[in-house]
Amino acid sequence: MARKVIIDCDPGIDDAVALCMALFDSRLDVVALTATSGNVSANQASRNIQAVTERLDPPRWPRFGVVQDSDSLSSATALHIHGDDGLGNIRLETSELHRQHPSDKVIVDTVHNAPGDVSIIALGPLTNIAAALKREPELAHFVDRLIIGGGSIHGIGNITPTAEFNMYCDAESARVVFQSSLAKTLVPLEVTEDLMFDISLLNDLPPEASRVGAFLRETVPFLFRSYRQNFGVEGIHLHDAVTLVAALHPEFFETKDMPGDVETRGELTKGMTVFDRRSRPENRSNMEVAVSLNKTAVLDAIMQCLRFAGQESTNA
Ligand code: RIB
Ligand code: CA
Repeated sequence: MARKVIIDCDPGIDDAVALCMALFDSRLDVVALTATSGNVSANQASRNIQAVTERLDPPRWPRFGVVQDSDSLSSATALHIHGDDGLGNIRLETSELHRQHPSDKVIVDTVHNAPGDVSIIALGPLTNIAAALKREPELAHFVDRLIIGGGSIHGIGNITPTAEFNMYCDAESARVVFQSSLAKTLVPLEVTEDLMFDISLLNDLPPEASRVGAFLRETVPFLFRSYRQNFGVEGIHLHDAVTLVAALHPEFFETKDMPGDVETRGELTKGMTVFDRRSRPENRSNMEVAVSLNKTAVLDAIMQCLRFAGQESTNA
């Protein structure tokens, strides 16, 4: 039986790689795809989830959840990393969906329809998850597990010296989610940055003849250029692909139960995730945190997913 999941994301190139993996994986039933601002604006993220799905044309299409710029409080974007359109400036076309529903409403309606059977994979800021908790205070009763990509255990950030991007963009929502009773797994930067992909990845992508291969060969090269220009490195991280593998293969990750919280007011520490690792922590653990990964197994899982997606998206 395929595992029902909602993917909440801010595409973003690494989000798009995760979507290529998830939308064709027979172990997953992506029942909803909800957009959040983050790497790109709310409107752009809403366009991107639809445009990527149209371009990939997976065997099963998810319900879409959208967000509006007017509702977005996100305090940063990552256009310098992912391009002005968030997908390496490939300017995908998309047909406007007639009836568009807000992301948080789609999340709540989806879990109400299958109480306890749906997991949420959050690949962007946690704005929609916090909004869903506001709309449905008993959300924890309806959700199997929330897998969160982001944060950092030791307080070393990427968007600031102390904060990871997804938590920084909406620290208040992240704190609401961390303090909620949702069953949570966090996949932090220490784990997602432990896997670096070099330029040989471009040769290992699915063939151009497949929809997945053609799409990835257009969008992923931009990430190599932006990592070289912004970080001076010859390689990329695919944070969201690693987070997706944590949902598919938890056995590839070592986790520890920890009490986590999020700084929301610090001038230098806004968005910093703080874990009480003292021998006698003040608060009870509220999440399991991935502390290490089996690099070979995770890399193989990503490439196997993409290979399968390539086969499934090759027109007969
Ligand atoms: O910090 C990395 C995370 O922020 C990834 O999810 C990336 O897509 C951005 O959303
Ligand atoms: Ca993301």
